[in-house]
This record gives sequence, C-alpha cells and structure tokens, in this order.
Amino acid sequence: MTADELKQQAAKAALEYVKGGIIGVGTGSTVNHFIDYLATVKGKIDGAVSSSDASTERLKSHGIQVSDLNATGELEVYIDGADESDHYLNLIKGGGGALTREKIIAGASKKFVCIADESKLVDVLGNFPLPVEVIPMARSHVARQLVKLGGTPVWRENFFTDNGNVILDVHNLEIMQPMETEQKINAIAGVVTTGIFALRGADVLILGSEEGPKTILPK
Ligand code: A5P
Repeated sequence: MTADELKQQAAKAALEYVKGGIIGVGTGSTVNHFIDYLATVKGKIDGAVSSSDASTERLKSHGIQVSDLNATGELEVYIDGADESDHYLNLIKGGGGALTREKIIAGASKKFVCIADESKLVDVLGNFPLPVEVIPMARSHVARQLVKLGGTPVWRENFFTDNGNVILDVHNLEIMQPMETEQKINAIAGVVTTGIFALRGADVLILGSEEGPKTILPK
C-alpha cells in the first residue's frame, strides 16, 4: 500500500470517534481524507471547528458548517494528523504550518485522536525538523536562541502562516524530554507556538498499516 492509502485507512477508522455535535478538524493530507469521509456522515454532526483556511475551504465544499471556536465551548473530539509521534503520543506537528490553531483546538477538546500512516511512529522525536511559528520581527532573535538549545533553525522562506507569521524548521534536535523542550521553546520571546505537542499530546493514535488500522494508546 502507498503512504497515501495508509493515511486514508487511518482517516476512515477515525469515523468511529465521530459521535455528533461539533467536531474539531485539523490540517494536512491525512485530514483531507478524513474530511472527505466526514462528508459521508455529515447528517450526524452539527458542524466543525477548523484549524486552517485550507481545511475550512474543504469542509465548506462538502457542505459542512464551520463554526468559530469562541461560540462552541469545549469540543468532544479533535481529529488531526502528525509529522511524528512517540510511544507516549507526544507529537511533532506543523509540517503544513497550521500548528498554532491546531494546538488551540487540541487544547479545547476533550479527546484528541491523531491519524497517521505507520511511518510516523518513532522512538524519539526530532528526526522531522521541528516547526516553530514566530512573529516576523523576532525571526533572527528566536533563531539564535534555538541554536543555543542545540538546534539548526532554517527559515521556511516565502511562507506565511494563516496568522501572518513565519516558520523556523529546527533540524538536528533529539527531543528526549518533549514537555521540557516544549516549555523552553515557548518561553522564547517572539515564539507563538512550537510544533511539539507534549503538554497536550494525543489521547489515541490510529496508524494505517499493511495489517489494517492499529489503535495505539499512550504507553
Ligand atoms: C499541519 O500543520 C500539520 O500539523 C499536519 O497535521 C502534519 O503535518 C501531518 O500532515 P500529513 O497528514 O499531510 O502527513
């Protein structure tokens, strides 16, 4: 099976967690499959809160109503992909640049169901360059602080987030203590969000695999 077929398999399996009400919806190619499946059961839900302009557009194209998080209160479930997950379901996210809104919706949801192909499961986070969203004027300052933490930040040139900020992709970080690293990076002035999701990791990970979808709970 191709990686895309494995993503599709995980996305379909996540429908089990859609019970009704308003669903939190993430961003990325795996979530795009999920949105397409969600459309087949749209009569069951009241709508969605979206983590990006791209997902909003796709949801609306299926006739799914998109709500403002300020109007919904806490959500029952948030479904999103990841760039990496460890066995404790600490994640790296933000490959698509939507990390800040993703982290907000994850934090506002009772259950975070992460969907991915099985190549995303790793022992230690950090092989995937860690995205960090930064206020544009702080880019060089934040980059210097990230070097002090042992990373090699690379500016994602010609890219702006939906919030009008820039992204530094941090290479060469071996993230042995995800919560501590998340807090340290968040504390740098000018950082909006780091792509480490450890303080609020996933509750369930569904991995597409050759043997069918696998459900992983935190170790
Ligand atoms: C978007 O900003 C990301 O956090 C995505 O969730 C992550 O990059 C996974 O993307 P894919 O589903 O495309 O692999």
